[in-house]
Amino acid sequence: MNICIVGTGYVGLVAGACLSDFGMNVVCVDNDASKIDMLNRGEVPIYEMGLKDLIARNTKLERLSFTTDLVAAVDRSLVIFIGVGTPESNDGRADLKYVREVARAVAETMNDYKVIVLKSTVPVGTAKEIRQFISQHNSNGVDFDVVSNPEFLREGAALNDFLRPDRVIIGSDSERALAIMRDIYRPLYLLETPIVSTSNETAEMIKYAANTMLAVKITFINEIANLCDKVGADVYDVARAMGIMK
Ligand SMILES: NC(=O)c1ccc[n+]([C@@H]2O[C@H](COP(=O)([O-])OP(=O)(O)OC[C@H]3O[C@@H](n4cnc5c(N)ncnc54)[C@H](O)[C@@H]3O)[C@@H](O)[C@H]2O)c1
Repeated sequence: MNICIVGTGYVGLVAGACLSDFGMNVVCVDNDASKIDMLNRGEVPIYEMGLKDLIARNTKLERLSFTTDLVAAVDRSLVIFIGVGTPESNDGRADLKYVREVARAVAETMNDYKVIVLKSTVPVGTAKEIRQFISQHNSNGVDFDVVSNPEFLREGAALNDFLRPDRVIIGSDSERALAIMRDIYRPLYLLETPIVSTSNETAEMIKYAANTMLAVKITFINEIANLCDKVGADVYDVARAMGIMK
């Protein structure tokens, strides 16, 4: 299956390398030409254990390539993952300008059925909004689906988190898109990774709920650490016993 990943940052690069290792033909796209040049020279802009070798192996097997040419990449791909940044804007909301920029370019380019996958972390309702946005710019009037597939990897453990995730979330209201996504993640399914298929809104909410749960856990254990200092207890043992420090 031909896949394109737009945004070759932490999430996009790791996803691209791992999905090519699953046997997919992956082209990673970025509008930062220096990053793409670097990757084409065999250099990797971030350090993650095993990533350089994974990229080298799949590049050699011609299953993984890097380009700035979004139009050509979309043209040859059935599935387009959007993994660009969603930085916090001044009012605290996620800034979706990069996501919209890519969605618009994809909409204007696509000339047959595409699955457009939101991998960036986006607020609840974004898939619906992006679906409408793409419909408005769908120059060739082609059929498409928008899937929400949030990413849970942690920097420093990214490869392991992607290859052995606790779960894969697929938000979609299309059986066709769901079947394609299941195909992509088949190697994880074989490892008995839970694949949760749900609505786009629920998938988006799962990512935000998981992130805030993590923040609550950290705040909670910090409070317990302060208490431990006062009473002479060992916070590491407390956390381990509670199973909170996974
Ligand atoms: N880094 C993490 O640990 C992590 C984990 C889970 C989810 N996420 C989410 O995933 C998303 C991506 O995060 P990241 O850390 O990989 O970001 P990043 O900043 O490392 O990478 C984003 C990449 O997108 C590229 N880009 C921006 N606009 C583009 C365009 N129009 N066309 C092509 N490329 C474009 C940038 O040049 C950059 O290389 C964010 O929504 C983030 O919140 C990040």
